[in-house]
Amino acid sequence: MKVKALKGFKDILPDEVGSWQFIEATARDIFQRFGFSEIKVPILEKTSLFARSIGETTDIVEKEMYTFEDRNGALITMRPEGTASVLRAFIEHSLHTKKPVQKLFTIGPMFRHERPQMGRLRQFHQMSVEVLGADQPLLDAEVMAMAWSVLDTIGLPISLEINSLGCAACRPDFNNALVDFLEERKGGICEDCERRRHKNPLRVLDCKSENCQKLYKDSPSILDHLCQGCDDHFKVVEQGLTMLNIPYKVNSFMVRGLDYYTRTTFELITDALGAQSAVGAGGRYDGLVKQLGGPNLPGIGFAIGMERLVLLLQQHAEIQKKPKNDIFIAALGPAAQEKAFVITNALRKRGLTAAMDYADRSLKAQMKQADKLFSKYTLIIGDDELERGEGTLRNMVTKEQVGVPLGRGNMDLWSQELAEKLEI
Ligand code: HAM
Repeated sequence: MKVKALKGFKDILPDEVGSWQFIEATARDIFQRFGFSEIKVPILEKTSLFARSIGETTDIVEKEMYTFEDRNGALITMRPEGTASVLRAFIEHSLHTKKPVQKLFTIGPMFRHERPQMGRLRQFHQMSVEVLGADQPLLDAEVMAMAWSVLDTIGLPISLEINSLGCAACRPDFNNALVDFLEERKGGICEDCERRRHKNPLRVLDCKSENCQKLYKDSPSILDHLCQGCDDHFKVVEQGLTMLNIPYKVNSFMVRGLDYYTRTTFELITDALGAQSAVGAGGRYDGLVKQLGGPNLPGIGFAIGMERLVLLLQQHAEIQKKPKNDIFIAALGPAAQEKAFVITNALRKRGLTAAMDYADRSLKAQMKQADKLFSKYTLIIGDDELERGEGTLRNMVTKEQVGVPLGRGNMDLWSQELAEKLEI
């Protein structure tokens, strides 16, 4: 019998890897421009880390974690998200003493035992971002602008929804209003909500049952219960987004599935993936570092789900056609192939992505291959070109062709000159 992959665990095949690399390279470039550094954290952590941060009464901790005993009997969990692990590392290594504000990102697999469906897996990948040590509302807008920028640069249509979940000062007031509201509807809500309405009322708003969601349609709005500080903070966040020309919608029903959020929360939404509408999500978590045993420092972050981005990318074939290979060398005949071999490798040394064909195929077949690689340029070399000492450089987008000298001997200088000439 063939052994197959586990349900909800997916291979990423060579055909798809291009999309993954494209997404990751775009995000890394943007994160770097915003001043973020990469951190790599382990996949396994003590279970208590997630229970204490994500929250005992969340779906993730109650139902979805891959938790088991290691050989010494200690309870360990495969990380269901990145924030808790990054904060654990931040505290353990006292990173706040190295820089007053730490801007960190991590990319990797997360694990949740959810029911698999389109855009929902048991092993999925996040690009997860955290800013620790700053509580200014304009930073919230900037963090959202960065998330927005990743999706916008890739070229995907997405909308931004924001909310505020208040703070320790105003949340109890909202909780009371919610408890009263739920008391009146207690007969109609599901078992989970019945349990949670006493323990953690906010969690009921996050219930996935259609019936409960219908009942909660006219629940009290948290935005009507914010204290002055939270209200002012939220207003500046909105102003910041407007200043940066980022369109957004306020959604006062958005509560997020993790307990650690305070004040600003947000989701990047698409309507193209059925029920799994959030491509990315995040928010502020001002008490969390302290709650995990660290200094009293604020934090904010988000995570983008990479599988969902890849799915969206597949729906937008035109985006995939962005040129990826800088130059393809099409060579005809053994002498030209030898020249192409030297040129291809000299251009790679200059940092260009260069490819050639070794199979001695026709010019037509080689041009097809150049297209398949989404090459920006093709340099054509045949016997005539070799004799003249001039190849034909074709811009694969504009189809314009110009002659370029082919160079002799040491190709280092030649490749540098050509690299400078190309608009890459
Ligand atoms: P989250 O909303 O649980 O937040 O997940 C963020 C994103 O991960 C989702 O919007 C979605 O794109 C993706 N995702 C979540 N679960 C799955 C799944 N089962 N299959 C595929 N994709 C999934 C967090 O994890 C927070 N740690 C985000 C954050 C960082 N908040 C502050 N800093």
